[in-house]
Amino acid sequence: MTVDEWFPVAADDPATTDDAAPDPIADEWFPVATATEVTPGTVHPFQLLDERYVLLAANDANDASVTVVRDTCPHRGAQLSLGRFDGDRLECAYHGWQFDTSGRCRHQPAHPDATPSEASNLRPVRVSRAYDLYWVCLGDEPRNLPYYPAFHLHPGRTTICAPKRVRTSGPRIVENFLDMAHFPFVHGGYLGTAPHTEVRDHEIASVDGELRAINCTFWQPQPGPGAGQGGDVEYTYGVSHPYAARLVKIPSEADGGAAEAFEILLAVSPESELSCRAWMLTTAHSPSADLDSFNEFGALIFGQDVAVVESQRPARLPLDPRAEQHQRADRTSLAYRRWLVARGIRYGTSRNEPERGGTGPTGSARKP
Ligand code: FES
Ligand SMILES: [Fe+2]
Repeated sequence: MTVDEWFPVAADDPATTDDAAPDPIADEWFPVATATEVTPGTVHPFQLLDERYVLLAANDANDASVTVVRDTCPHRGAQLSLGRFDGDRLECAYHGWQFDTSGRCRHQPAHPDATPSEASNLRPVRVSRAYDLYWVCLGDEPRNLPYYPAFHLHPGRTTICAPKRVRTSGPRIVENFLDMAHFPFVHGGYLGTAPHTEVRDHEIASVDGELRAINCTFWQPQPGPGAGQGGDVEYTYGVSHPYAARLVKIPSEADGGAAEAFEILLAVSPESELSCRAWMLTTAHSPSADLDSFNEFGALIFGQDVAVVESQRPARLPLDPRAEQHQRADRTSLAYRRWLVARGIRYGTSRNEPERGGTGPTGSARKP
């Protein structure tokens, strides 16, 4: 069986054609900080889509008083987060211009009696709090946050791993998260063990715009931190955001029953096309589950993935179905690639390869 037989490619498949439309990646939300670290009076510099920004938490920190601006002074381009922030004013380290937490320039020490011009102001970008993270959207038409109902269905049962930097494209990282065939090789002894290498057929569906892989079963020697024996486990995967994916581990007797069920949201934040910070949220269903052990387990598993994922070439995810050789177990990743095409995403994919007419790492992600 060839890939075309189980995943037909139409003659006008958009994945095989160039797309001159602007990349809507700037309209996506990306995580930039955990809520717990955003305490009053703190600054959080970060890079997103090739540009540096800083999140400012005012002294009376709440959602309304968290501001995100470019981390570059409009005067001579110094990095603002090198300066001082007292929870009310951010002072540039170079010539002392002061900005309030709305981004307005309030003081220019070389001309202490003058009123700074409008052009001296910083323009805040959208920031939102969800799932105990702060998310930033740089574009004008924000799309949806990743769908992750577990956070609300199991209040207080979510733990967040410190973000991990991975030197590759976001879509390569997400596709790895959707891949079961690597379990016995990359996560041997944990999520898989030879000779239990078979990936059984599963279903692909679209539910309210979310791409789902259903009835994904796999034999695992240690399916979770509390598992005492190996057995078949069942996952559902969901993709509702180009740089994020979730999994639901369906409760099974093999790994402790309903008490051990958990869900994970992987959310990838691109510093650039080929360097990302990956955030992992784990939600344990059981009120008595040890969240720290879930966090440690998730960090261990994800850490095992990094070397292989960073080694993949091309680093940008190929969207032409004929660009790589596939096996039947790749149905979910192929569906993800087509979902990215339908979403119009170029950033981090082969559609942004310089040789294909894309503009490379500093390319078409930014709006004019
Ligand atoms: S570069 Fe910031 S005040 Fe001059
Ligand atoms: Fe993995």
